[in-house]
Amino acid sequence: MKILQINSSSRSAGANSTRIANDIAAQLQARHPQAHLTVRDLAVQPHPPLDEAALGALFTPAEQRTPAQAARVALDDALIAEVQAHDVIVLGVPMYNFGNSVQLKTWIDAIARAGVTFRYTETGPEGLIKGKTVYVALARGGVYRDTANDSQVPYLKNVLGFLGMTDVRFIYGEGLAMGPDAAEKGFAQAQADIAAALS
Ligand SMILES: Cc1cc2nc3c(=O)[nH]c(=O)nc-3n(C[C@H](O)[C@H](O)[C@H](O)COP(=O)(O)O)c2cc1C
Repeated sequence: MKILQINSSSRSAGANSTRIANDIAAQLQARHPQAHLTVRDLAVQPHPPLDEAALGALFTPAEQRTPAQAARVALDDALIAEVQAHDVIVLGVPMYNFGNSVQLKTWIDAIARAGVTFRYTETGPEGLIKGKTVYVALARGGVYRDTANDSQVPYLKNVLGFLGMTDVRFIYGEGLAMGPDAAEKGFAQAQADIAAALS
């Protein structure tokens, strides 16, 4: 088993989403002692955004790219290859202003590549990142589970599923900014969710 942990908090130290993602990875490793873990912390290794230069590079045929364009595409290629090379993906996902971190969005923008990680067929889109199990470690100040205010879970189910990752298990760490008792309860709920997700 090869596990890829992606930390997408804006902070590299003290992040609650990373703490819960670490717990998931540790419990996976406890169950699968031969498992190999790769950790990519997007706060430490920021990935560039999908800006005009990046789109220009992607839309330029490979043989016509400038060295700078080729280098930019290669950064995305590396993230795609990394996902493809692992069986299990653990995503640390904070909530910022009701949405995902910019770090997570740049990672998703990097791995979504037409013709490589998804394609359109006569019957509709087909995701090409298949056979993965994804654990999503959610960290939130408030509580949104199963409410209309949770825009992250539907989005992540949608975009990961579009790319072929349909086995997605959500771990909820919520109420983390609502005082010490609520935070303790939130971390305990995350542990219960991990146990359920791994059973
Ligand atoms: C800039 C910012 C925006 C936030 N927005 C929200 C929010 O919209 N809803 C919420 O429940 N918590 C919000 N929080 C609290 C975070 O979700 C909480 O601190 C969580 O632990 C962040 O994950 P991290 O520790 O992995 O970075 C916000 C925190 C920050 C710093």
